[in-house]
Amino acid sequence: MPKVLVATVKPFAPTAVKQISEIIQNGGYEFVLLEKYGSQDDLVSAVADADALIIRSDLVDREVIQAAGKLKIVVRAGAGYDNIDLDAASGKGIVAMNTPGQNSNAVAELALGMMVYMARNQFDGSSGTELRGKTLGIHAYGYVGKLVSKIAGGFDMDVYAFDPYIDREVIERDGVICLESAKQLYETCQYISLHIPANEETRGSINHALLSVMPEGAVLINTARKEVIDEVSLEKVFAERPDFRYASDIAPDNAAKLKDAYPDRCFFTPKKMGAQTAEANINAGVAAARQVVAFLEEGDRTFQVNK
Ligand code: 3PG
Repeated sequence: MPKVLVATVKPFAPTAVKQISEIIQNGGYEFVLLEKYGSQDDLVSAVADADALIIRSDLVDREVIQAAGKLKIVVRAGAGYDNIDLDAASGKGIVAMNTPGQNSNAVAELALGMMVYMARNQFDGSSGTELRGKTLGIHAYGYVGKLVSKIAGGFDMDVYAFDPYIDREVIERDGVICLESAKQLYETCQYISLHIPANEETRGSINHALLSVMPEGAVLINTARKEVIDEVSLEKVFAERPDFRYASDIAPDNAAKLKDAYPDRCFFTPKKMGAQTAEANINAGVAAARQVVAFLEEGDRTFQVNK
């Protein structure tokens, strides 16, 4: 019986695991669960006889791919697939997929929650500010960016966006002002919410040139990836601008240093938790399980991200 391995260092909610296992078993496959594993070696051993693999942010590097003797498909239950070595997968004819949009609402809600948290001085009891009437710049207008714009509209924020890959009309249809460049977005908006993926083009791209031109009272919210931030620039901006604040769902490598120097101006979640809701786990996990079954049964390659 073909084996489907669900490997998650950060486990899905139990309700999601139950539904995923049912879909896989009802499809006639063996369901194997590897949760909270302690080392990469555990994944390397578990994947050896798996026909399909479902993961979250788990690292599927060349070593894992090489160890996967029977693997035909890996599905990242979520949006970002920067944790999969796509070249290695393609080299072995393994299909890689994600489940776009399935956990976006959870991430969008967290982004707005972080904005409120920073506007209210991390709930320290002092007098904060409101979001109403403030400018919000959405950097990349994909599934999450679009939902952030919708929720921010409820807060009466003035919403702007920059995304060179999305048509202006698509953005403007939502009542969002579309800007021409990242520079323009950062110059215009007091709040910036990051929704760019981590790739060759974006790694380290959020730099001093962008952060230093943000208006007075600048707040940067990162529910995307830590790799998109140039951390040297980040430190420099913190040092130069006493008004600059940063909240991130992914602690930077220099988190301890920043926390120590600027405790009131930065906040990092202890573990990436943007998509960590029962609803997002169910949506993304179930979608991943269905995609695995559809691929193994019918060769359905919708959502394939490698060539
Ligand atoms: C994603 O890319 O889908 C999000 O960053 C969520 O990642 P997670 O599954 O590790 O929580």
